Amino acid sequence: MCFNGLCVFFIYMVCFSLFQARQALTSRQNQTCNPSDLKALEGFLSGLESELTGWRSAKENSSSDHCCAWVGVGCSFSPVYGNRVTSLDLANRRLKGGVSESLAALDQLQLLNLSSNSLSGDLLPALFRLPNLEILDLSNNQFHGAIDAVGLCGLSNNLRILNLSVNLFSGGFPVGFGNCSSLQHLSLGVNYLSGSLAEDVYKLVKLSSLHLQYNRLQGHLDERLSNLSSLVELDLSFNRFSGSIPDVFNNIVKLEQFSVHSNQLTGCLPPSLSDSHSLRTLNVRNNSLNCEIHINCTATPHLTHLDLGSNRFHGPIPASLSDCRQLKALSLARNKFDGQVPESWNNLQALTELSLSNNSLHNVSAALEVLSQCRNLTILVLTLNFLGNRCLKLGYLGSKV
Ligand SMILES: *[C@@H]1O[C@H](CO)[C@@H](O)[C@H](O)[C@H]1NC(C)=O
Ligand SMILES: *[C@@H]1O[C@H](CO)[C@@H](O)[C@H](O)[C@H]1NC(C)=O
Ligand SMILES: *[C@@H]1O[C@H](CO)[C@@H](O)[C@H](O)[C@H]1NC(C)=O
Ligand SMILES: *[C@@H]1O[C@H](CO)[C@@H](O)[C@H](O)[C@H]1NC(C)=O
Ligand SMILES: *[C@@H]1O[C@H](CO)[C@@H](O)[C@H](O)[C@H]1NC(C)=O
Ligand SMILES: *[C@@H]1O[C@H](CO)[C@@H](O)[C@H](O)[C@H]1NC(C)=O
Ligand SMILES: *[C@@H]1O[C@H](CO)[C@@H](O)[C@H](O)[C@H]1NC(C)=O
Ligand SMILES: *[C@@H]1O[C@H](CO)[C@@H](O)[C@H](O)[C@H]1NC(C)=O
Ligand SMILES: *[C@@H]1O[C@H](CO)[C@@H](O)[C@H](O)[C@H]1NC(C)=O
Ligand SMILES: *[C@@H]1O[C@H](CO)[C@@H](O)[C@H](O)[C@H]1NC(C)=O
Ligand SMILES: *[C@@H]1O[C@H](CO)[C@@H](O)[C@H](O)[C@H]1NC(C)=O
Repeated sequence: MCFNGLCVFFIYMVCFSLFQARQALTSRQNQTCNPSDLKALEGFLSGLESELTGWRSAKENSSSDHCCAWVGVGCSFSPVYGNRVTSLDLANRRLKGGVSESLAALDQLQLLNLSSNSLSGDLLPALFRLPNLEILDLSNNQFHGAIDAVGLCGLSNNLRILNLSVNLFSGGFPVGFGNCSSLQHLSLGVNYLSGSLAEDVYKLVKLSSLHLQYNRLQGHLDERLSNLSSLVELDLSFNRFSGSIPDVFNNIVKLEQFSVHSNQLTGCLPPSLSDSHSLRTLNVRNNSLNCEIHINCTATPHLTHLDLGSNRFHGPIPASLSDCRQLKALSLARNKFDGQVPESWNNLQALTELSLSNNSLHNVSAALEVLSQCRNLTILVLTLNFLGNRCLKLGYLGSKV
C-alpha cells in the first residue's frame, strides 16, 4: 500500500543492498580459487619432474587459494559455476615428466596448451573427461602410444583445435575423429602413425586445416576427400600414399595450400587441381607423377609457389605458366621436360627462384635471353640440361641474371 515516493525509495534501497551484497560475494568468489580446481592444479604440479615458476612461489606465499593468479592459469566467472579455471596455457615452460590424471577435475577447462615442453607418457584418459575442451595443443613433446580418438571425441565434441604434432605417437591412423564434429584444425604431423586414413575422418566437413605430414600413412587418396569441402590447408607430405590424386578439387574451393611431396603417387595432376581458384602453394615434388602439364594460370591467379620437381612429367616446358603473374618460386627440376624455355616466360616478373635442372632443355642462349627479362629472379638453376651445347657445365647462376 504505497502511495508516495518514500515507498519507491525503500524498494530501491532494498534492491540496492541486495545488489551490493551480491557484488561483494562475487568479488570474493572471483578472487579465490575453486577448491576442486586448486586440488587439480596441485596434482598437476606434483606430477611434474620440473619446477614451474610462478606456481611454487605463489604456493609458498600461502596465497595458494588464489590460483587464478598463477602463471598460465585463466579463470572465468559464471553465476552457475562460480569462478572456475577455464584455460591452462603452459607452452614453452620446460616442463618435464608426466601429466597428472588430476587434470580431469578441471571440468570447465576450455583451453589446454602444453606445447613445446618435454612432457611424456600416453595420451591421458583424463583429457577424455573434459567435456568443455575446445582447444588442445600438446604439440612438440614426447608423448607416445596410440591416439585414442574414440575417447577424445566421445565426450569433447566441442573440440575445435587439436594439435598433437611433433610427438612420438604411433599405431594406426586413429578411428573416432568423425565424432569430433566441431573440429576445424587437426594436426598430427611428425609422428609415427601408420595405416590408411580412417573413413570417419571424411565426416569432418568443418575441417579447415589437416596436417598429417611426416608419418607412415599409406593407401589411396580417394574421392571421399571431396567431403572435406572447408579445407584451406592440406599437408600429406612425406608419407607412403600411392595411387593417383583424386579429381575432387572442384569441391574444395577454399584450398590455398596443398602439399603432398615425397609420397608414391602416380598418374596425372587432376584438372580440378590445376584449375583450383584459391590455390597459392602446390607442392607435389618427389613422387612418380607423369603426363604433360596443363596448368591454366588464368584460373589460378593466386599461385605463388609451384613445385613439380622429381617426378616424371614430360612434354614441352609449359608456356601457359607465363600467365602465373604472381608466381615467386617454380621448380620443374628432375623431370623429362624438353624443348626451349618459352619466350612468353619473360612475363614472369614476380619470379625470384627458378629451377629447371636435370631435364632435356635445348638452347641455353635462348633460355638466358628470356630469363634475363625476369627482373626479380635471384636464384636460377639450370644444371644438367643443354646436352649438345658447348657450355655443358653451366651451373648455378647466383644473383641477378
Ligand atoms: C567477476 O568476474 C567476472 C568475469 O571475470 C566479471 O565479469 C565480474 O564483473 C566480476 N565480478 C566482480 C564483483 O568483480
Ligand atoms: C605474495 O603474493 C602477493 C599477492 O599475490 C604478492 O604481491 C607478493 O609479492 C608475494 N610475495 C612473495 C614473497 O612472493
Ligand atoms: C600454444 O602456445 C604456443 C606458444 O605460445 C602457440 O604458438 C600456439 O599457437 C598455441 N596453440 C594454440 C592452439 O593456440
Ligand atoms: C598447433 O596447431 C594449431 C592448429 O593448426 C595451431 O593453431 C597452433 O599454433 C599449433 N601449435 C604450435 C605450437 O604451433
Ligand atoms: C560416435 O558416436 C556415436 C554416438 O555416441 C557412437 O555410437 C559411435 O560408436 C561413435 N563412433 C566412433 C567411431 O567412436
Ligand atoms: C560426407 O559428408 C556428409 C555430411 O555432409 C556425411 O553425411 C557423409 O557420411 C560423409 N561421407 C563420408 C564418406 O564420410
Ligand atoms: C622422396 O620421398 C621418399 C619417400 O617416398 C623419401 O624416402 C625420400 O627421402 C624423399 N627424398 C627427398 C629428397 O625428399
Ligand atoms: C583458363 O581459365 C579461364 C578462367 O577460368 C577460362 O576462361 C579459360 O577458358 C581457360 N583456358 C583454358 C585453355 O582452359
Ligand atoms: C636426374 O634425373 C634422373 C631421373 O630423371 C635421376 O635418375 C638422376 O639421379 C638425376 N640426377 C641428379 C644429379 O639429380
Ligand atoms: C619485384 O621485387 C620487388 C622488390 O622485392 C617488389 O617490390 C616487386 O613487387 C616485385 N615485382 C613483382 C612483379 O612481383
Ligand atoms: C637458340 O636460340 C637463339 C635465340 O632465341 C636462336 O637465335 C638460335 O637459332 C637458337 N639455336 C638453336 C640451335 O635452335
